[in-house]
Amino acid sequence: MGSVSLKIGDGTARFKRATLCSSAVNILMLFSVITTNLFALYAFTFSPKQHLDNPFHHPHRNISLISQHVSLIIKEIDSSQRKLAQMEKELLGYDTLDLSRPNLATELKLFLQHHQLPLGKDSRTGITEMVASVGHSCEKSADLLSQYMSYKVSGPCPDDWSLAQKLILKGCEPLPRRRCFAKTVPKPGLTSLPVSLWKPVSDKIVTWSGLGCKNFNCLNSKKLSRGCVGCFNLTNGYETQKYVKARSKNDFVMDDVLALGSGGIRIGFDIGGGSGTFAARMAERNVTVITNTLNVDAPHSEFIAARGLFPLFLSLDHRFPFYDNVFDLVHATSGLDVEGKPEKLEFLMFDLDRILRVGGLFWLDNFYCSDDEKKSALTRLIERFGYKKLKWVVGEKTDAAGSGKPQVYLSAVLQKPVRI
Ligand SMILES: *[C@@H]1O[C@H](CO)[C@@H](O)[C@H](O)[C@H]1NC(C)=O
Ligand SMILES: *[C@@H]1O[C@H](CO)[C@@H](O)[C@H](O)[C@H]1NC(C)=O
Ligand SMILES: *[C@@H]1O[C@H](CO)[C@@H](O)[C@H](O)[C@H]1NC(C)=O
Repeated sequence: MGSVSLKIGDGTARFKRATLCSSAVNILMLFSVITTNLFALYAFTFSPKQHLDNPFHHPHRNISLISQHVSLIIKEIDSSQRKLAQMEKELLGYDTLDLSRPNLATELKLFLQHHQLPLGKDSRTGITEMVASVGHSCEKSADLLSQYMSYKVSGPCPDDWSLAQKLILKGCEPLPRRRCFAKTVPKPGLTSLPVSLWKPVSDKIVTWSGLGCKNFNCLNSKKLSRGCVGCFNLTNGYETQKYVKARSKNDFVMDDVLALGSGGIRIGFDIGGGSGTFAARMAERNVTVITNTLNVDAPHSEFIAARGLFPLFLSLDHRFPFYDNVFDLVHATSGLDVEGKPEKLEFLMFDLDRILRVGGLFWLDNFYCSDDEKKSALTRLIERFGYKKLKWVVGEKTDAAGSGKPQVYLSAVLQKPVRI
């Protein structure tokens, strides 16, 4: 019985306990402990009056009868375990990836198999098995995920990065690993730093599959996002002046901001960094910046990498893969804006606060607020963190698209306080 009860507690509840609503899981844990104990009670307190041939009291101890009873008990436990899993799903509104569904790629099932550690529990980490992680929202896109995992093992991967990105944007993050060779693109003409920072990137060294544009000229003629208008043009135009020359009072000059950090700014994180120009300007100042970007409508990641900078391919829904209090600087533009409930932005802000060190700078750069109300909400949110406002500029610009409506922008440099 001991090993069976361990299975119930360990198999279904361990992962969720760590990640999800703990009170619901506690109720379930209690339930599983009670059911397990009830079965134990049932097994060892058979009333001899009701069961005249009770094997536990039979003088000959009929072994075959005992094993029949035991297998019955185990069957009951199995079925209650299934019920328990079902209740758990309903209670938490959470679906684990159902590996028994039809048409699921074999590679996916293989990837998700748990592997017991060969030597049992690891004394340093306390884990007993290796698990492969796949975002729980993948369940919603199981067909796409299965498509993503359908390939020839050790063969070339399908040219499907846009499918991968689609899954990520649907919350299926992390994606499973694959055992195929990703398409390669030869990269002739890469130069070393610092020349690489401003050397135009050839159309030929990036992948254009799945994109509307097939070259950088096309991209430069489009407004890709608020922070990326002609942002792939490194020869002339505004991109070469960004952070060096201010166009409006909302544009802070990089050297002024760095001066506020009194020399201690060495590593930074840039959110929604377009073509990596923020990181490039920082690199010239010996500051290492990681640029967070997806390839939305453009080959951002490859472009940034070609400049000799570090692109991070991660959605803003993902908890940042950095330890607490490590960055000296976080820079965010309107790319920080997340749709939906205000809580969504709060979760993001708390995560940014987590990775920024005490005394580190949070540079909010031309954050677009659709109206005054949004600006006030954002201001209230920021003020809750207790940051010191080193710079705070609210500006209005008339809509370039010509609606005539003034648009509100917030730029700020904030310093993370010590919290006790
Ligand atoms: C043990 O129980 C089985 C099933 O009830 C029965 O067929 C068998 O005859 C019993 N054996 C003895 C030794 O009582
Ligand atoms: C870059 O911008 C400048 C100035 O607007 C323009 O003259 C040039 O043609 C652009 N280059 C590319 C490759 O788009
Ligand atoms: C960056 O580091 C190099 C090498 O240590 C040094 O020569 C250069 O002056 C530094 N640049 C700045 C802007 O600090």
